Amino acid sequence: MTTYILQALILSAITVSIAAAVQTFNIGVNYGMLGDDMLDAIEVVKILKMYSIDNLRILAPDHATLEALRKSNIKLCLGIRNEDLPYLATRQKDMNEWFAENVQPYVEEVIFSYITVGHETIPSDYAPFILPVMQDLQTLLHSHGLDSIKVSTVISTASLGTSSPPSHGIFSTETRVTMIDVLKFLKNTNSPLLINVYPYFVVAEDPVNVRLDYALFTAKDVVVKDGNLSYYNMFEAIVDSFFWAMEKEGFNDVEVVISESGWPSAGNGNLTTPEMAYTYNYHFVRRVQNLGTPKRPQASLEGFIYELFNENRKGTTVEQNFGIMYPK
Ligand SMILES: *[C@@H]1O[C@H](CO)[C@@H](O)[C@H](O)[C@H]1NC(C)=O
Ligand SMILES: *[C@@H]1O[C@H](CO)[C@@H](O)[C@H](O)[C@H]1NC(C)=O
Repeated sequence: MTTYILQALILSAITVSIAAAVQTFNIGVNYGMLGDDMLDAIEVVKILKMYSIDNLRILAPDHATLEALRKSNIKLCLGIRNEDLPYLATRQKDMNEWFAENVQPYVEEVIFSYITVGHETIPSDYAPFILPVMQDLQTLLHSHGLDSIKVSTVISTASLGTSSPPSHGIFSTETRVTMIDVLKFLKNTNSPLLINVYPYFVVAEDPVNVRLDYALFTAKDVVVKDGNLSYYNMFEAIVDSFFWAMEKEGFNDVEVVISESGWPSAGNGNLTTPEMAYTYNYHFVRRVQNLGTPKRPQASLEGFIYELFNENRKGTTVEQNFGIMYPK
């Protein structure tokens, strides 16, 4: 029997800032399962309840998790596997079956917040399938009276041609057409765009020139001045580069949800320590409790920490070490 040690600091920081927040809090976690000795879903739900985390994101349907979430009041952001997109896009029967298997049996007792179509698939060979699946799924949800479930897609900065400074944010020539179609859909359905935001990887790529305190939310001075907007942390700058990119295509009112953000606690020398992971996640949680970015001061941000557990079967040591909990 494996016991799990909490990175108590991170979790208590989350709880403290949640307690301090007057508005409903907006923090969730990603629950990836590519690890040995993972806690089972029932234990996971207990932990989320214990720490008042009421949003969970999983990348693909997992029936044990869906069962465990019944009557939990924890909202679920559910992903559709990228590999499933081509046939879901072309065969209505398969779409119906996907829904009948993974959503319908649970809707009475599980709160689905978002269903995401495509994980970092714009650009990729899957890009052409995204909009058709989003539309079919939306129609299906509507026909079952489930319009409260928002359909969206998850993108990363790989969808942007330029992202720095934020006002230069623009979709790349490769992604632009797909993104415009997706954004029209999101606007019409009043759904947010889900974005993955990782200052860590920006620092890791250029540790000499990128300021670590800017990435870790600890800079005390303005690090990037962009027109009349001032940035103390890279997180807000990256989020704003998406806002600018959308605005340039005429979408001023599509909201964003941060589907992933986090910092690894090991794997890359002195850029990846438990203290840094703590610092990043602590500030990230506080940041998404509060309104807005320099570009959109009134935007409400909702975010999912990446991620609940270390996953020792992932590719690189860094990728294995984003967890806020780890097995002992
Ligand atoms: C920044 O400048 C733009 C015009 O360039 C203006 O529309 C906007 O209101 C200004 N924002 C702030 C916060 O002053
Ligand atoms: C990490 O180590 C390198 C090489 O020794 C050093 O230049 C850098 O300042 C260190 N960074 C931190 C954040 O300690």
